[in-house]
Amino acid sequence: MKIKIESKESGKAIAHALFFVKKSIQFSSVLSEKATEQAETVLNGMEEGPFEDLEFLELDGVPTFFVNAAKERGLTSLDHLRMAAYRLAKQAKKKQISCVSLMLADAAPEQLKSIIHGLYYAEYEFDRYKTKKQKSFSVVYEIVVQDQAKEFSKIANDVAIEQASISMARDWINTPGSDLTPSVFVSEAEKIAKETGLKIKVRDIKALQKEGYNGLVTVGKGSQSLPYMVTLEYKPAKASKDLHLALVGKGLTFDTGGISLKPATGMWEMCCDMSGAAAVLGAIRAIALLKLPIRVSVVLCLAENRIGSKAVLPGDIFTAKNGKTVMVDNTDAEGRLALSDGLAEAGLLKATHIIDLATLTGAMVRALGYAITGFFSNDEKLASKILEAGQTCCEKFWPMPLEEEYADGLKGKFADLQNTGSDAGAISAALFLKEFVPENTSWSHWDIAGTAFVTKPWKYTSHGATGIGVQTLVELARQLGE
Ligand code: BES
Ligand code: ZN
Ligand code: ZN
Repeated sequence: MKIKIESKESGKAIAHALFFVKKSIQFSSVLSEKATEQAETVLNGMEEGPFEDLEFLELDGVPTFFVNAAKERGLTSLDHLRMAAYRLAKQAKKKQISCVSLMLADAAPEQLKSIIHGLYYAEYEFDRYKTKKQKSFSVVYEIVVQDQAKEFSKIANDVAIEQASISMARDWINTPGSDLTPSVFVSEAEKIAKETGLKIKVRDIKALQKEGYNGLVTVGKGSQSLPYMVTLEYKPAKASKDLHLALVGKGLTFDTGGISLKPATGMWEMCCDMSGAAAVLGAIRAIALLKLPIRVSVVLCLAENRIGSKAVLPGDIFTAKNGKTVMVDNTDAEGRLALSDGLAEAGLLKATHIIDLATLTGAMVRALGYAITGFFSNDEKLASKILEAGQTCCEKFWPMPLEEEYADGLKGKFADLQNTGSDAGAISAALFLKEFVPENTSWSHWDIAGTAFVTKPWKYTSHGATGIGVQTLVELARQLGE
């Protein structure tokens, strides 16, 4: 796929594409009177039948895609545009139309951004393991603008960077557990560091043991594929000295549950248990390539949670990096143990703001489902920025309470803490993490267990990894860096 922002039509377009929102034609100032009349008829037909949400008809003699962007419930108008563009791109590929001109003369920058995101989502395919690959057909999208060519070209370039990072995250997440082990993930991080010029530090199990990162060691020691911690640093010269954002990702390349073994049904989906690490790695890649003026560090907590003779036993007690002792009540509540080290590391890096992303609890899946990420924060200002950034990116967030009343459930019998708490599973997990957040630090925890991986197609993602989090993190970095 190619996106070209032009100041006049090249004459190569084989078809036009028109977008509709509600009963009005958007971006239509370019249409003749006769075409407008014809288009009205199609529009009515889409509202009342017999036309579908996407029609391919002649308009004033030109083959034209009519794209209805006003159908799905519960989504913002920008999200409708993404979905509409996604549908258009799928059809253009199917019909093998090599060049489509998008009639976007009146589009606002955020509308253009949404449409371009939608086009890119239609490109994503995870076919590494298919013997018959779908034939790839490359479509050129020509966007003819008036005086906004410079601004719109920058938007198109920025979206391309973000989307490439999202696709990488989705590829890592969709890759089966035996093929994306902690050490393979380390090589992926090294590739990103090389591509972007980021500083990288890799700690293997020896270093982790020596330095007391016992959460990761406890979780990962039962597997042949041993745990790692990876730290990446982006420190641009023009960044403010007072702000340092650390992004911490849960990177369980597979979660069997360990000795507290998970049931067989659906266990394969636990290849997605490194979605937090994938999102933060994708995000720092985009932030660096976009040259955002903000200091960002990323900490990946990589391990595989396996059953085996060296695996941690229920009842085992270890001393975490911040000195607190923890009894492992349930080996399947491993994410919080791995993240305890990531949070401690973010503190040692002197981060002023920490955001951790984790497919942490089944309770969050039951509470908010696949469309909404529940998040916790100890800082209201940061929380409202997250909500705002999410909305800009069409990623839904909902604030959850760090309810101290439930903290008692985390008290250990023979240790300071235990890794399970009250019935409120997502809140208990967040309260556990809070025990490891360095003092005087703004912190937010995003539980993406429901939103990282879908088992049926949703919006503009086919089943599997959604890449959730990357866009909102980049947007947040953009806003915090301003
Ligand atoms: N990785 C899981 C959480 C999860 C569930 C992610 C569904 C994605 C989809 C996590 O490690 C886990 O197993 N949590 C347990 C904690 C419990 C034992 C306290 C859970 O939520 O059941
Ligand atoms: Zn688990
Ligand atoms: Zn897990």
